[in-house]
Amino acid sequence: MTLVIAVDGPAGSGKSSAAKGAARALGLRYLDTGSMYRAMTWWMLHTDVPIDDPEAVAAAAVTPVIEVGTDPDAPTVCVDGADVSAPIRTREVSNAVSVVSSVPAVRRRLVELQRDIIGAGGIVVEGRDIGSVVAPDADLKVFLTASDEVRARRRAKDLRSDPAATVDVTLAEQARRDRLDSTRKDSPLAMAGDAVEVDSTALSLDEVVEMIVRLAKERQ
Ligand code: DC
Repeated sequence: MTLVIAVDGPAGSGKSSAAKGAARALGLRYLDTGSMYRAMTWWMLHTDVPIDDPEAVAAAAVTPVIEVGTDPDAPTVCVDGADVSAPIRTREVSNAVSVVSSVPAVRRRLVELQRDIIGAGGIVVEGRDIGSVVAPDADLKVFLTASDEVRARRRAKDLRSDPAATVDVTLAEQARRDRLDSTRKDSPLAMAGDAVEVDSTALSLDEVVEMIVRLAKERQ
């Protein structure tokens, strides 16, 4: 199947669960592009690259080998052969990732990798700029949103092992990340003109997945 489905939206909108669920239901591969920006950021923090210096970030961006698996039941992400699936989800990485991903050299490198993985299609791809930049010819583009409050609650639940990640702290960190992601110069978070906007505030995960599957079948 050559179908390409783009799922974009802000932090905590439920993209990952919805995109994975749709990929499973349709027998497609799944690509989490956010995990690639997180892996790049984790590596920069780990190797002491000064992330507030865009030139240093751009020069370093060519170095790490980033590999992602596309099985929706077991998505993996490795940097230089090491599995970084857990450390890329920390608040330290979440709070640094928008700055690193605003550097054009980082985006160029990762978008090239993403297009290689998308290849001939058969994949659900989630991110911020998939429908607008990475795969502008995608068969279906979904832009997933939810209220700020609901998104912060979802993320705080994901971060429950971190006692500092209260709903209020998560709400503030999320607002900062949304602002940086949607105001950066290079391929900001944006809804493609031909995307279908889905507000998941009052929807269950199953309802969102069903909606994506129905829309995908209509486009096939
Ligand atoms: O989806 P996520 O929260 O794991 O994404 C982490 C960050 O990566 C997000 O705040 C901005 C960046 N990102 C991006 O710039 N472009 C994408 N296609 C995906 C993520």
